[in-house]
Amino acid sequence: MNSKLFFLLCALSFFMACAEQKPLIPLSDDGTSVFYDQAKKPFYHGVASGDPLTSSVIIWTRVTPDNVSDIPVKWNISTNANMSNTIKSGTITTNATRDYTVKVDVQDLAANTTYYYQFEALNGQSIIGRTKTTAADDKSPVKLAVVSCSNYEAGYYNAFARIAEKDDLNAVVHLGDYIYEYQPGGYGDSSLDRKHLPAREITSLSDYRTRYAQYRLDKDFQKVHQMHPFITIWDDHEVANNVYKAGAQNHQPEDGDFMTRKEVAKQAYFEWLPVRDNATKDIYRTVKFGNTVDLIMLDERLAGRTYPVDSVSQSEFQAADRTMLGAEQLAWFKNELTTSDATWKVIGNQVIFSPCDISDLGFGSPVNLDAWDGYPYERNQISQFLANEKIENVIITAGDTHSSWAFEVPSEDRKSTIAIEIGTPSITSANSDERTAVEEVLQAEKVLSAKNPHLKYTDLRNHGYVVLSLTEAETMVEWYYVDKLNAPSDKEVLGKKYVVKNGVNQLQ
Ligand SMILES: [Fe+2]
Repeated sequence: MNSKLFFLLCALSFFMACAEQKPLIPLSDDGTSVFYDQAKKPFYHGVASGDPLTSSVIIWTRVTPDNVSDIPVKWNISTNANMSNTIKSGTITTNATRDYTVKVDVQDLAANTTYYYQFEALNGQSIIGRTKTTAADDKSPVKLAVVSCSNYEAGYYNAFARIAEKDDLNAVVHLGDYIYEYQPGGYGDSSLDRKHLPAREITSLSDYRTRYAQYRLDKDFQKVHQMHPFITIWDDHEVANNVYKAGAQNHQPEDGDFMTRKEVAKQAYFEWLPVRDNATKDIYRTVKFGNTVDLIMLDERLAGRTYPVDSVSQSEFQAADRTMLGAEQLAWFKNELTTSDATWKVIGNQVIFSPCDISDLGFGSPVNLDAWDGYPYERNQISQFLANEKIENVIITAGDTHSSWAFEVPSEDRKSTIAIEIGTPSITSANSDERTAVEEVLQAEKVLSAKNPHLKYTDLRNHGYVVLSLTEAETMVEWYYVDKLNAPSDKEVLGKKYVVKNGVNQLQ
């Protein structure tokens, strides 16, 4: 080719490339940018980690570019807190199809080891996160914070800030109601300057994404994710109140197609939370902590929960086809229990499992029909299985009620105890004393205890979290309560403490 022609071709291809270059489209603001801390640009939403295994862990961040584009994000893992001993790194590209979230399943790590991680993109660096892998086959002690119900509008995340300060936790277990779907003021008190965004009930993919973005711009929520790996499960409000497989109490025809809403809610959950991806977006799973704990996380909402009933006198109440887990998950759960070689089987469960008579509390129903009491057939299947198979050392955890509970879980015939159940209070969501006078709440606690001899402790007034400390010999259960929700505060108290000895289904 002569040089003149070569020059002409080069010039032509240059002009064509210029003509093809797309104009920059600014990333649209969902209204949450008012909460951005510019010092964190472009990683305003901090970092998170989760679902630890012996040799891998999920690390997470979200990058916020100025313009719509593919963004390469570099990640680094180090053995020290100043990131000077990087042992692994890589680059992953994110874009609008996953709301600019970044999730890496880091492999080939050492067991029972603390790591630090950081992301880089667009000439910025994220805050440094801390995480920890689980132990291999040994009897190391395990310490878990158990939380639920973190309604942004209902209060400041003082409890998350206190958990972030604890240096000896293996993980934080969030039992659901991580976000709430309501419009501003749609659920209880919202007098604080913490109004939900977007300013409507969330139903679309962009709605759910914006709601997660707002929650994760809170500094205390960011801090707790930065300091500990999370193991999370959804309850109902990650989709809509009292959700089940095919509908929800808080889903009306004007909210659109329910199955679409459920799918986009799940999509946003998998984008924004540090959970390990899988093809079916099922979330029930077991996390093993050596031979000390198998943490069995159940999905009691979206995988297999069938239609609710309105009354215990409804003919379908006891029906065998009314399930919370569904046949597939129940079979999996039984297998996890019988094949477990861990001393403690901790069940990540959303709603109260134990029978609980609430007939004198004025709810118009003798039991909570949204809890396991509303699905008696399947509950009895599990109770019988635990008794018949002599499954020992089962600690069931529960969220959902915004209150504290300790049950010695009775067998179906109420003649023996088959497990221990621990209810964690809400991080912020309102409980009884935000709705009723304290004297009435104290009276309700007395009534509950009198009606339910297997209920050893309840507190319907306080907010906070539970810490489970598990060793070969015993499980210690501690309820920590914060002093207020309506303002930032660093005060907390140890509200209650029990010990459960290995092989003894008793709260001591
Ligand atoms: Fe809740």
